[in-house]
Amino acid sequence: MLNTVAVDLGERSYQVRIGHGLLARAGTEIAPLLRRQRVAIVTEDSVAALHLPALQSALQAEGIASTALALPPGEGTKNWENLARCTEWLLEQKVERKDVVLALGGGVIGDLVGFSAAILRRGVRFVQLPTSLLAQVDSSVGGKTGINTAQGKNLVGAFHQPSLVLADIDVLDTLADRDFLSGYGEVVKYGLLGDAAFFDWLEREGPALRSGDKAARLRAVTRSVEMKAGIVSRDETEEGERALLNLGHTFCHALEKATGYSDRLLHGEGVAIGCALAFELSSRLGLCSQEDPSRVRAHLKAMGMKTDIRDIPGALPGAEALIALMGQDKKVVDGKLRFILARGVGHAFVADDVPGDTVRSVLDDALRS
Ligand SMILES: NC(=O)c1ccc[n+]([C@@H]2O[C@H](COP(=O)([O-])OP(=O)(O)OC[C@H]3O[C@@H](n4cnc5c(N)ncnc54)[C@H](O)[C@@H]3O)[C@@H](O)[C@H]2O)c1
Repeated sequence: MLNTVAVDLGERSYQVRIGHGLLARAGTEIAPLLRRQRVAIVTEDSVAALHLPALQSALQAEGIASTALALPPGEGTKNWENLARCTEWLLEQKVERKDVVLALGGGVIGDLVGFSAAILRRGVRFVQLPTSLLAQVDSSVGGKTGINTAQGKNLVGAFHQPSLVLADIDVLDTLADRDFLSGYGEVVKYGLLGDAAFFDWLEREGPALRSGDKAARLRAVTRSVEMKAGIVSRDETEEGERALLNLGHTFCHALEKATGYSDRLLHGEGVAIGCALAFELSSRLGLCSQEDPSRVRAHLKAMGMKTDIRDIPGALPGAEALIALMGQDKKVVDGKLRFILARGVGHAFVADDVPGDTVRSVLDDALRS
C-alpha cells in the first residue's frame, strides 16, 4: 500500500510518498530526478547502522552510485560546525548544481541537510528520507530547514523545499518507544488544530499505533502529511495559516530552552505538553469548554506520554522566567506574544494579543501542581 500526497507549490511542487518497503524501492523512486547516476547521502550514525545499507543497495540495484556521510546523532548536531562539515563534504564529493542530495534520518538530519542543500552552490535539490515519526509527519514536509545557535533553536535557516519525500512506515519499527511517542505529539497536534474526527480516531487507535499496527501507522502518517501539505500549499512562508502548525510551540520552545535542549525534554514531548497548556489557556480565556483541556490531557496520559510540566524531570524556572524565554521565540511579533489558541478540538486560530496575566496563571498552576 502506497499513499501519495501532493505539496502544490507551482514549480516547486513535489510528492510525499508514504508506504511500506519504500526504502527498498528508493532507487526506482529517485531515478527520475537524476541527471547522472550518482547521489550523496547524509545521515547520522544510529540511523546509518540500521538503514543505510538497505538504501545504498536499493540505489545500486538501479545503477545509482552513492557516497555517504554519517554525522553524530542528536539535536546537538544541528549546529554551525556540522553544517560546515556537511556542506564541505558535499563539495568534496563534487556535488554539482543539478545533482541530488539525500537526507536519511530524523528531523535533525532533515533540517541540517536541507539547509546545507539550500546554500550549497546557491541551492541544490534534495530528497527527504525521514526515519522518525516526527520527521515523517512534520519536519520532512514544508521546506523549513535550519540549525540551532547559542541564541535559540532554528533561528538560522532557509525555506528550501525537497524534490521528493519518501516516508517508509517500516523504518519506524526500529524507533525507540520514547522517540515514537515524541513524534506522536505532532500527530495529536494535527487533530487538535484542525481535524476533530482525526483526534477522535487517535483516541481510539492511538494505543494500536504505538504498539506497531502498520495500517494504523500508515493512516496516521498520511492524514498528518495531508494536513501539513494542505496548509503549506496555501501558505508556504507562514504569512497566515501556517502559523497554526505552531500549536503548543510557544510553550514548547520556552520549555526546551529551559531544559537546555537536553534529553530531559524531546521536541515532540514539549509539543504535547504545549498543546495541553494551549488548551488550558484557551479554556481560561473562555474560548473553549473546560472539558477540552481535560480531554487532551487524558489522551496524552492514556498514551503514556509526558502531559504536564511536572512530568519533566529536574528543576524548572518560574512562570516569569518561562514567559521571558517565550519572548525570545521567533514567533514574537512586535513584542507581543503570539499563541495558537483553540475554540475547541479541531478549531485552532492565531491570537496575537493574549493577556500576560492569564498566561502567567496557567504556568503558575502548572508549575505548582
Ligand atoms: N523543519 C520543520 O518543519 C520541523 C518541524 C518539526 C521539528 N523539526 C525539528 O526536528 C528535530 C526533531 O526531529 P526528531 O525527533 O526526528 O529528532 P532526531 O532526528 O534527533 O531523531 C530522534 C532520535 O531517533 C533516532 N532515529 C531516527 N530514526 C530512527 C529509526 N528509524 N530507528 C531508530 N532510531 C531512529 C535518532 O538517532 C535520534 O536519536 C528538531 O530539531 C526540530 O526542531 C523541524
